Amino acid sequence: MAKAIVVYHSRSGNTKEMAELIAKGMNDAGLKTQCRPVSKVKADDVFGYDAVVIGSPTYYGQMAGPVKELIDDLVGKHGQLDGKVGGAFTSSSNIGGGNETTIMGIIEGMLISGMIVQGDPSGDHYGPVSIGKPDERVERQCLRRGRRIAELSKKLFE
Ligand SMILES: Cc1cc2nc3c(=O)[nH]c(=O)nc-3n(C[C@H](O)[C@H](O)[C@H](O)COP(=O)(O)O)c2cc1C
Repeated sequence: MAKAIVVYHSRSGNTKEMAELIAKGMNDAGLKTQCRPVSKVKADDVFGYDAVVIGSPTYYGQMAGPVKELIDDLVGKHGQLDGKVGGAFTSSSNIGGGNETTIMGIIEGMLISGMIVQGDPSGDHYGPVSIGKPDERVERQCLRRGRRIAELSKKLFE
């Protein structure tokens, strides 16, 4: 059975809510998924999963420090995420507040690790974005992204 983790950083809860929705979408679609704050995850833990989804609030158009630290720590086992499935999401205050650059920063780290990141032709293309607290649109995007990540992971690893 394939397994997955959603890792997030969140000070005021918006990214956390998104993480829980994405993990729900993944679990509902049959991919066993844990959801953990980045403070409770070490780089070494990450290599045990077939799919890794990372979320961060947008800080100055980039991922938050603790998320970057986790990605930097992956270098100890560089290459071991090759061929695994990735995904990213973010919460920001503003439309055009740097949310897509934040997602792309996370995805860049995933691609450098050899991970497979599927875009979305209909939903949020790079990964779910919430402006402030997740609303119904964001809830749909998170559940949809979770389902798509689960479907791809099950195809590849089960
Ligand atoms: C240090 C810092 C930098 C931020 N930079 C941006 C930014 O560049 N663009 C933006 O739209 N929001 C920015 N924000 C707002 C957060 O991205 C936003 O409040 C987000 O929803 C917080 O997520 P959280 O509830 O998961 O902590 C910033 C917040 C902080 C604390």
